[in-house]
Amino acid sequence: MTDAPRSPLDLTLNLTHRPRRNRKADWARRLVRENVLTANDLIWPIFVVEGENVRTPVASMPDVERLSVDQAVAAAQRAAELGIPALALFPYTDPGLRDAHGSEALNPENLVCRACRAIKAVVPGIGLITDVALDPYTSHGHDGLLEGETILNDETVAVLVEQALNQARAGADVIAPSDMMDGRIGAIRAALDSEGFTDVQIMAYAAKYASAFYGPFRDAIGTNAVLVGDKRTYQMDPANSDEALREVAADLDEGADMIMIKPGLPYLDIIRRVKDRFEAPTFAYQVSGEYAMIMAAARNGWLDGEKAMLESLLAFKRAGAKGILTYFAPRVAEMLKKGA
Ligand code: PBG
Repeated sequence: MTDAPRSPLDLTLNLTHRPRRNRKADWARRLVRENVLTANDLIWPIFVVEGENVRTPVASMPDVERLSVDQAVAAAQRAAELGIPALALFPYTDPGLRDAHGSEALNPENLVCRACRAIKAVVPGIGLITDVALDPYTSHGHDGLLEGETILNDETVAVLVEQALNQARAGADVIAPSDMMDGRIGAIRAALDSEGFTDVQIMAYAAKYASAFYGPFRDAIGTNAVLVGDKRTYQMDPANSDEALREVAADLDEGADMIMIKPGLPYLDIIRRVKDRFEAPTFAYQVSGEYAMIMAAARNGWLDGEKAMLESLLAFKRAGAKGILTYFAPRVAEMLKKGA
């Protein structure tokens, strides 16, 4: 003889804690919510290209376009209206202007400098972050000077210092070195100070990994086609985490005002460790490949793009990021304005 199966209704749970109570209604969920995403958290990366009234699509980044300077000014106006605090500028340099030394980086009339001046003239209140690294300007696509197969460190830092000064003179508010050379933060800080740019901030790409997720960005700035080899002798090994803490410690020590972890979602553990250890303004870069993945899946109808976008950005806040560089910035800001 077998016992009849017990009905689930016979079960008496004597629970002290029922975490679902705090989730029972929208008002209750809003009341206990620990993190929120606002427009203040967003930094919008923009690609700048030569010309007038030009917007060229980036195939691997749906809805992202390279903008001529006049269009970048319009984007800055839009950003200001949406309450986005800052833009990060990246140039698509004409192939004819790229050389082994990245000399265009030092041209006071280069695209980024012209964009800075044009934007500041029309939208003075928006923060401008400029990228310090030579890859948009070198014929080999590396962030530094190449000798044989070696990226020279100290020689590169000397050029990066000049690049940073060039950008500061054009009105950049924040210098963001993404090159991963050793010692560049201290060298740039000293040079900025000696030219009187004591208020120009430095956002250091402190822990930047040698990542496959940068592919679409390299399409956008036209370096995928020319890049020789990879960047593993200067960008970090994705296997490492303690090393990120040493990188951040060094950059803060050398005078970084803000630090950044890059890529984003695959490296949330690094953001959390860095935030807990240093309690410094910590930013995350949701990079081009992360953007492309969400957009591609959404376009295939495989996930809800808007929900995935918002969830991914909230995840950065939860991990401890103060803000996020994201190509979704204008779209998210628009949704937040409408009360998403
Ligand atoms: C280069 C730079 C890269 C990105 C920002 N600055 C790419 C690289 O290191 O090759 C990537 C951003 C993205 O993928 O969205 N100095």
